[in-house]
Amino acid sequence: MKKVIIGNWKMNKNREEAIALVSDLDNKISDKNVEVVVAPPFIYLEAVKRAAKNISIAAQDTFWEESGAYTGEVSPVQLKDYCSYVLVGHSERRKYQKETNEEIANKVKAVSSVGLIPVLCVGEDLEQRNSGNTEQVLKEKIEEGLSKITNQDLENVIIAYEPIWSISTTENRKDCTVQDAESAAVLIDKIIKTKFGENNARVFFGGNVNPENAEGYLQSNEYAGALVGGASLNAKKFLEIIEKVG
Ligand code: PGA
Repeated sequence: MKKVIIGNWKMNKNREEAIALVSDLDNKISDKNVEVVVAPPFIYLEAVKRAAKNISIAAQDTFWEESGAYTGEVSPVQLKDYCSYVLVGHSERRKYQKETNEEIANKVKAVSSVGLIPVLCVGEDLEQRNSGNTEQVLKEKIEEGLSKITNQDLENVIIAYEPIWSISTTENRKDCTVQDAESAAVLIDKIIKTKFGENNARVFFGGNVNPENAEGYLQSNEYAGALVGGASLNAKKFLEIIEKVG
């Protein structure tokens, strides 16, 4: 299966910049061994999609109901025309919007039931890691996040391991070595297998992936792709990361 690299633009870029960035990337992507995905803010999904011929699109979030009186929300059914992936449970949403595992489970279910691919983001913070709770935190986030889907839905689910302590904007961040990342992937595989048995769920890495360190994560057999934040805002850097898939 092709490796996948998702660029999460978060709350960055204006309309003109968003179109310029995706167009620039789209013209330069030639490597058919990798699927490149960008996740622009909702408001630019349509414009970015129009400019993307070789690039897939992700939404950064969704609501779980199909339609109704939910001011400010966007449903997976509405997103379906614009994207193929949806990020769910990103650590920034868990922090600022206080998203719970139960809400996240509803979102994962809603996304997979319309045929989109949920990218369930999980990871521990430094305090949890230092107190030896990494496995417990990952277990809770994964088991609860996936609690509403079936074994069959799992075929199309991506788990993004994003150690919060290594995300580029985390204060006093630390590097997550490839070895640390691989140990976490082994834990994640174990957690998913215990719950669902043999499965084809893919695991991606995210946390300050940049041109200097991308090779290690992307060449690892444990990881089927990467979720890139800051470095995806710059076409040159993002293309350098894409080249590292090899
Ligand atoms: P970063 O962000 O690459 O800037 O660390 C990753 C993420 O939060 O998805």
